[in-house]
Amino acid sequence: MAEELQIDSLSEAYTMNGGDGCYSYTKNSKYQKEAIFSAKELIIQAIVERLDIKSLSSLDICRIADLGCSVGPNTFFVVQNIMEAVKSKYKILGLDSYLPEFQVFFSDHSSNDFNTLFTSLPQDRQYYVVGVPGSFYNKLFPDSSLLIVHSSYSIRWISKVPNEVVSKTSSAWNKGKVYYSVPQMQSLRLMQLSIRRTWTDICVIAQKK
Ligand SMILES: C[S@@+](CC[C@H](N)C(=O)[O-])C[C@H]1O[C@@H](n2cnc3c(N)ncnc32)[C@H](O)[C@@H]1O
Repeated sequence: MAEELQIDSLSEAYTMNGGDGCYSYTKNSKYQKEAIFSAKELIIQAIVERLDIKSLSSLDICRIADLGCSVGPNTFFVVQNIMEAVKSKYKILGLDSYLPEFQVFFSDHSSNDFNTLFTSLPQDRQYYVVGVPGSFYNKLFPDSSLLIVHSSYSIRWISKVPNEVVSKTSSAWNKGKVYYSVPQMQSLRLMQLSIRRTWTDICVIAQKK
């Protein structure tokens, strides 16, 4: 049975609007798409420099996971970028004819609109698709089963709101609003601390895998 890592306090589920209507994430995620395109070169560089394909056997499948994939289409651009980078690496090493098969794990909370995701998969995709429902603060994959794990605009998205920010008696209380137009130093410090805790937890989980 899959091991559940107990980080429940970080597992609040706020999924994006499903479908493809005018308020859907699909139609309202251009900013995030820009971020994915801005990160493209960095991703290619990281994969070309660090991916150790010599350690893969010819039978290995290149398994890629996108954590917090939402409903698309951004996650499809991510996968395309990663696959391009892996293919470049093989090409640089003169191993083009040994390209592995690709399998992509699209993962998000179970309340994510996976139907929209699956019905809008690129027709010309060259990878196998798996949907993985669940919070990435729990163990979602068997040990050593993934080669590349990606996440964009997801870890920061739900970083737990520090208790102090929602406590009326705290000086960091933001009157119930989630947005700070003029951030107070104390709230900022608490948010930074919360993000640092989130990253520490994620690193601990990654090391266990
Ligand atoms: C702003 S969207 C980003 C979607 C996509 N990565 C992109 O860049 O367009 C954040 C996504 O992260 C997912 N998410 C947030 N916390 C999560 C968690 N703990 N486990 C799984 N998915 C999570 C949300 O459900 C949502 O789909």
